[in-house]
Amino acid sequence: MKANTIPKRKVEISASIMCIDWLHAAKQLKILEEQSIDYLHWDVIDGRFAPDFTMGSSIINKFRASSSRPSDYHLMVEEPSQLFDNFSITPGDIFSVHQECCRNLHRDLVSLRKKGARVGVALNPGTSLEVLDYVIEDIDVILVMSVNPGFMGQELVPQTLGKIEKLRRRIDDMHLDIKISVDGNVNYQNIPNMVEAGADILVGGSSGLFRNDMDLEDSIKYLRESISEGEEKR
Ligand code: DX5
Ligand code: ZN
Repeated sequence: MKANTIPKRKVEISASIMCIDWLHAAKQLKILEEQSIDYLHWDVIDGRFAPDFTMGSSIINKFRASSSRPSDYHLMVEEPSQLFDNFSITPGDIFSVHQECCRNLHRDLVSLRKKGARVGVALNPGTSLEVLDYVIEDIDVILVMSVNPGFMGQELVPQTLGKIEKLRRRIDDMHLDIKISVDGNVNYQNIPNMVEAGADILVGGSSGLFRNDMDLEDSIKYLRESISEGEEKR
């Protein structure tokens, strides 16, 4: 197949609920539903692997019950397997754990798959792609952190763009069906570069989706336009 006849992958949006406008959360959740946002992204933080705390299963399960969108769990916690049973997993949900947090990563991935999740491995900006060498065949999603985990509103770590590009080449060379998800400072300036580098899923947080200076419908429109800009370049 010629390069220019390879079908283009659709870039999906995952809404980072930790950045939602909590006082208007029901209204915003409805908009995400109407706009067919691809996933709801759940950041779970334990105050150890990453500073601060976010949401626990009671809040997440409550939100999930009022939305039809699939879940995209992102556990930033030490030894996440202790929490696997706390969350509901339905077919189509993504469940990502950090490579840096698992004493036995492969065992954790196997147990997540048994629970019916599409399994993901998340990597901090400073973690090398080599750590994926012996698990890459067993994963569906690689979550490339483009900021250090923990807080919203951080600046992009610029070398993560080259990391996405390198990972895209590796996945394509191995003919694997793995999606690259990118999380952190996904804004209108960075999105075209992230998409051009090979991102499949973009996590929309405070910089691209839940912004203080515009309505959610408008930010979704700008986000989609920035995605199209990136798609034209690849
Ligand atoms: C960072 C979180 C992100 C966060 C990023 O620790 O994992 O999901 O929401 O969103 P921004 O960078 O746009 O605030
Ligand atoms: Zn996240």
